[in-house]
Amino acid sequence: KTPDRWLPRDPRLIRLTGVHPFNVEAPLSDLFNEGFLTSPELFYVRNHGHVPQVQDEAVLDWQFSIEGLVEHPLTLSLRDLLEGYEQRTYPITLVCAGNRRKEQNVVRKTKGFSWGAAGVSTALFTGVMMADVLEKAKPKRGARYVCMEGADELPNGCYGTNIKLRSAMDRDKGIMLAHAMNGEMLRPDHGKPLRAVVPGQIGGRSVKWLKRLVVTPNPSDNWYHIWDNRVLPTIVSPEESANKPSWWQDERYAIYDLSPNSVIASPAHDEIVSMDDPAESYCVKGYAYSGGGRRVTRVEVSIDKGRSWRLTDIDYLEDRYREAPRQHLCGGTLDMADYEASFCWCFWSIEIPSAELYSASDVLVRAMDDILGMMNSPWFRVAIYLDG
Ligand code: MTE
Repeated sequence: KTPDRWLPRDPRLIRLTGVHPFNVEAPLSDLFNEGFLTSPELFYVRNHGHVPQVQDEAVLDWQFSIEGLVEHPLTLSLRDLLEGYEQRTYPITLVCAGNRRKEQNVVRKTKGFSWGAAGVSTALFTGVMMADVLEKAKPKRGARYVCMEGADELPNGCYGTNIKLRSAMDRDKGIMLAHAMNGEMLRPDHGKPLRAVVPGQIGGRSVKWLKRLVVTPNPSDNWYHIWDNRVLPTIVSPEESANKPSWWQDERYAIYDLSPNSVIASPAHDEIVSMDDPAESYCVKGYAYSGGGRRVTRVEVSIDKGRSWRLTDIDYLEDRYREAPRQHLCGGTLDMADYEASFCWCFWSIEIPSAELYSASDVLVRAMDDILGMMNSPWFRVAIYLDG
């Protein structure tokens, strides 16, 4: 029996974990060539199990509950969300916390499978602000987390995790209950008919096939919240980590905000770059993103193994919408006044004279976000002199 056999999937997608569950990324060049918005066909997929099958006729009747430490527990259908709440549309980049793990696995094997650099995608998500729904339910004093559960049935229960209630109530954080992607109903692999979208945080917090929101004083006790998406202290090896449940249960090691990241899409890895005319230049380009709503402010490229760095030009997706700051888009309102934070990837590029590239054996890239100049954390370096 092959689960998910009913689902059509794009043959260009690269499978990362055999036949099941479905974990895929697009070839990096295909993803990048799509531009800022990724089509649903090439949007990366991270599924822990089979995809819940929801017929189109049943979509509006999909129910989910808001319960726990709230004054007014609610059960809402997707129809209620569409009819009773303001619809919003925002461009949002989702990233799997494992994006680029392949490079790490080459240096030292981790417990996770090998994502290339395409475990990231961007779409215009339409839905309702989670804050609007939580306000109706009225969280009680002492509430700190919103635990979320999906409808997928997995070996260790359903998929679940939490976000902080403080972030969920803060509209500037852009956390949504989304039902559409690029103007069409969510595809089954991406949570049809309803999912959470948590911008600026690791993709694992954006629960798909959403069934329950439980407001709690404590973090989620869901198996997948505890045993996934954590960074244990580096002294714990992957082998040892299995014997340390108390470390896994320590919420301090749970990861939320994404960190700055940058990737070269062109030239591709191992590409043979032709140098017909040394007077010409080559356009080196790729993507970058950061987390927590911070904007990438600087992307630099080196062709001399990190000895010197050149500034690149950066093109921001959000800037495309600044000319019409309030507009109706994909069935929701996009309001850039609400969107000061940066929840999307940006594309950077730089022309490098071919003659200079000719002498390089590799190209490096690094990105910094808007905490540049503060919170400085490069390698600390001291000079020493030998005595005698
Ligand atoms: N939600 C449910 N219910 N089940 C899952 O397996 N995977 C999570 C998250 N939400 C998951 C889920 C992870 S780890 C990621 S990175 C994102 O969904 C991926 O979203 P996408 O498949 O739409 O790209």
